[in-house]
Amino acid sequence: MTTFSKIIGVGSYLPETTLSNAELEKSVDTSDEWIRTRTGIESRHIHAPHETTSDLAFHAAQKAIQHAQLANTDIDLIIVATTTPDMVFPSTACLLQQKLGIHHGAAFDIQAVCTGFVYALSVADLFIKSGQATNALVVGAETFTNLLNWQDRNTCVLFGDGAGAVVLSKSNDPGILSTHLHADGKYADMLCVPGHVMNGETSGNPTVTMDGGAVFKFAVKVLSQVSLEALTHNAMTIDQVDWLIPHQANIRIIEATADKLKLPMSKVIVTVQKHGNTSAASIPLALDEGVRTGRIKPGQTCLLVGVGGGFTWGSALLKF
Ligand code: UT7
Repeated sequence: MTTFSKIIGVGSYLPETTLSNAELEKSVDTSDEWIRTRTGIESRHIHAPHETTSDLAFHAAQKAIQHAQLANTDIDLIIVATTTPDMVFPSTACLLQQKLGIHHGAAFDIQAVCTGFVYALSVADLFIKSGQATNALVVGAETFTNLLNWQDRNTCVLFGDGAGAVVLSKSNDPGILSTHLHADGKYADMLCVPGHVMNGETSGNPTVTMDGGAVFKFAVKVLSQVSLEALTHNAMTIDQVDWLIPHQANIRIIEATADKLKLPMSKVIVTVQKHGNTSAASIPLALDEGVRTGRIKPGQTCLLVGVGGGFTWGSALLKF
């Protein structure tokens, strides 16, 4: 019998504090009107000073494990997709493992920026299919606002913090149908945080720099490409997809992608207006919202697509 991996639990967590466009207007030369019309973002969540990425991940993970009706100790693989780890090392996954009271199995981070969750899901799927794991906890978690220059209106209005998690388990029924991952390092400079820790100091710029227009065009191109790649691989048409769950960076990127795919926006989960761009957390946050609001139902087909720094991009097509 073929072994599949299937999502059996989802959860998410957003920090309590929100920052509206109107509040941002007071500190940087921008306007609610500009942010809304150019990005669709109205508000974003900002982590409390004491809250780290592993704290956000912990709350989301705990909800996903409860939703899956498992005990924490049933988890034998933890993968955290993050660009904003608590520490240089150990990994955020190891810190999360300790918070969950789990002391067995493998735990590691994946760094693929906004495509991180799709990468992590793909790796967990392979671990389960190969028999190396039974119940994987896959988390996308970010305190991304730590990487912002709050005086740079080109970037600071776009991002937010949050975490989303799923439990992916061994199954006899199809869950994940396919994953496709891509990367091309020649685009590294298009979106990056070039700084690093060196000899006890931060060397270089430790905040987000990007060519917004180039990122926009690249994102629309590869999100539709990778969607069609997933459909072709599974001999499916776009009509057979119940929900598109794209990375949430900009409503115009999402709408342009749906338009290219000839998919009505009523079949797209959109959270960017409330969350901003939460990098690796954006797709699992949207997935959890879709499930919690009763839109995504068991047995439905979901297409997850992401794009981010690296550049990286990819898809996961799955039966929920
Ligand atoms: O996960 C991937 C992360 N990155 C992204 O997703 C970014 C993708 N790119 C985008 O979302 C869009 O390109 C932006 C939202 C960044 C910009 O939208 P746009 O429609 O491409 O704007 P634009 O480049 O046509 O316009 C930029 C203008 C500039 O002014 P000038 O030079 O035309 O006078 C900027 O200085 O808008 C100005 N601008 C702002 N004005 C008010 C840039 N940021 C702001 C701001 N408020 N926050």
